[in-house]
Amino acid sequence: MSRILILFAHPALEKSRIHKELISRAKNLESVYVHDLYEVYPELDIDLSREQELLLSHDIILLQHPFYWYSAPAIIKQWLDLVLEHGWAYGSTGKALHSKQMMNVISCGGSREVYQREGKNRFTVPELLAPFNQTAHLCGMEYLPPFVIHGTHRLNDTDITLSALQYESLLVALRDERISEDERKGIEYINDILPIPSAIQS
Ligand SMILES: Cc1cc2nc3c(=O)[nH]c(=O)nc-3n(C[C@H](O)[C@H](O)[C@H](O)COP(=O)(O)O)c2cc1C
Repeated sequence: MSRILILFAHPALEKSRIHKELISRAKNLESVYVHDLYEVYPELDIDLSREQELLLSHDIILLQHPFYWYSAPAIIKQWLDLVLEHGWAYGSTGKALHSKQMMNVISCGGSREVYQREGKNRFTVPELLAPFNQTAHLCGMEYLPPFVIHGTHRLNDTDITLSALQYESLLVALRDERISEDERKGIEYINDILPIPSAIQS
């Protein structure tokens, strides 16, 4: 059974519709640890040793956050800048994270349609997530296709419940190592191979 660490970042959780629901499901699962970065570090004063210990004791690292300005809320950047030290996470002696897996779990106001080359946002979500993909690669981790919830402003309560169920099924499948290397190669989103469909994709 894999141990999953969710590095969760939402600067206004009290206003959240999507992530509030996803997190409440994730918290109930065995072998899944939810680490709410804004709750633990409201002043962004990240405890580097604690974070590195957490990374060492987990196999799969999820960065869960709303998509903000085609990227992540500020604390994720602060976390990456401080925690992934040279000589520990990367560099000739930096092998602490080798063979772990990393993935983004994001929600976007925009639809899947606008995140196409010919769409309003001109780039696909995986293209915009390239810095995370390459960071994982540099640190010797496998970067998994992202879990993405689109069109958040149009989702009703039933849609959100469906997305949360889909997320729960992903966490269980990752934890129980039920997503094979063949299945996860070459797909745009991990959602696309999950049995429960996403609420609104276009
Ligand atoms: C500061 C800010 C920046 C945002 N940037 C984007 C963006 O670049 N692309 C996008 O699709 N949605 C963007 N959104 C919309 C959020 O991603 C969306 O409201 C959020 O995912 C909904 O999740 P929640 O209900 O958990 O807050 C932005 C929202 C805020 C407040």
